[in-house]
Amino acid sequence: MFNWVFRRFSKDMGVDLGTANTLLYVPEKGITVDEPTVVAVNVRTEQILSVGKEAKHMLGKTPPHIEVTRPLTNGIISDYEVAEKMVKYFIDKIHEDGFSFVTRPRVVICVPLEVTEVETKAVEDAIIAAGAREVFVVQEPVAAAIGARMPIQEPIGNMIVDLGGGNTEVAVISLNGVVAWKSTTIAGDEMNRNIIQYAREVFNLLIGESHAELIKLKVGSASEMSEKIEFPMRGRDVISGLPREIMITDTHIREALSRSIRTIVDLIKMTLEITPPELTVDIHERGMLLTGGGSLLRGLDTVIAKATEIPVRIADDPLTAVVRGTGVLLEDEELLEEVVLPSTRNTKRKKRKKI
Ligand SMILES: Nc1ncnc2c1ncn2[C@@H]1O[C@H](COP(=O)(O)OP(=O)(O)OP(=O)(O)O)[C@@H](O)[C@H]1O
Ligand SMILES: [Mg+2]
Repeated sequence: MFNWVFRRFSKDMGVDLGTANTLLYVPEKGITVDEPTVVAVNVRTEQILSVGKEAKHMLGKTPPHIEVTRPLTNGIISDYEVAEKMVKYFIDKIHEDGFSFVTRPRVVICVPLEVTEVETKAVEDAIIAAGAREVFVVQEPVAAAIGARMPIQEPIGNMIVDLGGGNTEVAVISLNGVVAWKSTTIAGDEMNRNIIQYAREVFNLLIGESHAELIKLKVGSASEMSEKIEFPMRGRDVISGLPREIMITDTHIREALSRSIRTIVDLIKMTLEITPPELTVDIHERGMLLTGGGSLLRGLDTVIAKATEIPVRIADDPLTAVVRGTGVLLEDEELLEEVVLPSTRNTKRKKRKKI
């Protein structure tokens, strides 16, 4: 057995438990899990059939005894039991790859800005139940900013917009703390629902969630583009009940998404309105950063920049910014101590000496 070789790697883990995707980061290894937050359960036996990509492929295609569930809603655990099993499954998967949890891991995990103490506790409990020794909870946009290497320790206005599946969060961070923020549940999932509704209302076509997401990725945009894009949209005709295919264009999807895009732009403007003027000046100079999968929607950066008159940049690899941030925190105890939320568990955290 070579397990001992990996012992020193196995102490810590960063977790981005997202509404759409779950990512795990292990120091010296990097991102070891990057899977959809989806679980397929056999409701007769209550056994988990598959997790992640495999489960997502089953969405909308299951017989009555198989349920494909998403244990998070708008960034919050909505099915505690399934969430815990899913995290355990992912951790075990790393274990299979040759890791040995001789000492149980310390875990850094993120929660949305809009979260209650009860919800934070549910996250902490799920992680402890999944085998962690200690859990550190951090606000998601803070982790995203750290992952994107924004200078949040400085007295500078760092503006970040994290566009996830379940939440869009706008935060202005300075001196390791969130100074101003706003969030909405209008995010990637809602955009998929917008497309489903549009297809039904305009084309009398019923389409599934996965297909709506595919359409969003293939032809979705927030502003007019130089090139026209088309893609076949497939579903069931509401009237005839038969399968039907139509060609959908970027113009259609832009119309379907327009209300959500407007809401997101307004949210960013509202956050700027409540930001202290000194920080607003910094943001005006330095621009804002977009993270999360939603930031990849074509032309969204342009729309935001135009509406706010502030430069907008999309983070490198925006889908992994949060988990990379947890990775940085695992290796920087001082910063972790600065940004960690107070624990809701009874265990008193040791206060480390500051130099
Ligand atoms: N190229 C793209 N264009 C538009 N949307 C995209 C693109 N790629 C991914 N997305 C969307 O991004 C969302 C997933 O992003 P992400 O993984 O950051 O969310 P999450 O962290 O799981 O959710 P949350 O932070 O809200 O809990 C999905 O809704 C997905 O459809
Ligand atoms: Mg996220």
